Amino acid sequence: MTDRTIGYIVGSLSSTSINRRLAKALERLAPAGTTLVEIPIAGLPFYSMDLEADFPQAARDFKDAIAGVDGVIIVTPEYSRSIPGVLKNALDWSARPYGQASFDGKPTAVIGTSGGGIATAAAQQHLKAILSHLNAPTLGQPEGYVQSLPGLFTEDGEVTNDETAAFLVAYLDAFGALIERYARVSVAA
Ligand SMILES: Cc1cc2nc3c(=O)[nH]c(=O)nc-3n(C[C@H](O)[C@H](O)[C@H](O)COP(=O)(O)O)c2cc1C
Repeated sequence: MTDRTIGYIVGSLSSTSINRRLAKALERLAPAGTTLVEIPIAGLPFYSMDLEADFPQAARDFKDAIAGVDGVIIVTPEYSRSIPGVLKNALDWSARPYGQASFDGKPTAVIGTSGGGIATAAAQQHLKAILSHLNAPTLGQPEGYVQSLPGLFTEDGEVTNDETAAFLVAYLDAFGALIERYARVSVAA
């Protein structure tokens, strides 16, 4: 197995984000040979076509970061039964300039946590629809619905529940397999 780097995007700007804790947990649980690195979105300006003539450096950096990893995990809360605006803004930047969409062919997985029983499922359905449009091969199973009970994750991403930790390990394994499979298909094509 070759070493791989997976980027992760956190769809929350909160300094106390439980989704950031989940991302940290994935970082900690990554198998040997897999490194997780954050792809930050907080510095992106609001997308406007007016800005495209002089494509902002923050957006260039964001697109370069996606290009530089083997796959991307999007870890997001649910806002009003959809994805947070800050994440949609980042995905819109990723789609530009026209014809250079960053998620085209990029293996991608989505996961999220909230206190609610359906644990960001509605947001993830919207997110998968967007990623399908962007032509990202997306992990179907297992689905990443993590109900965040108090204390489930410590601040630096330790998981206090063994079943959740085992689920996250299985989730990372499945995404690793998708990346591997897609890399083989791309080489053969
Ligand atoms: C504007 C807004 C809308 C929200 N809508 C939902 C929702 O539709 N479903 C849900 O499960 N939680 C919803 N929440 C609660 C968030 O899931 C909760 O605040 C969570 O902690 C956010 O994740 P974070 O800590 O990673 O920022 C909403 C929160 C805000 C601020």
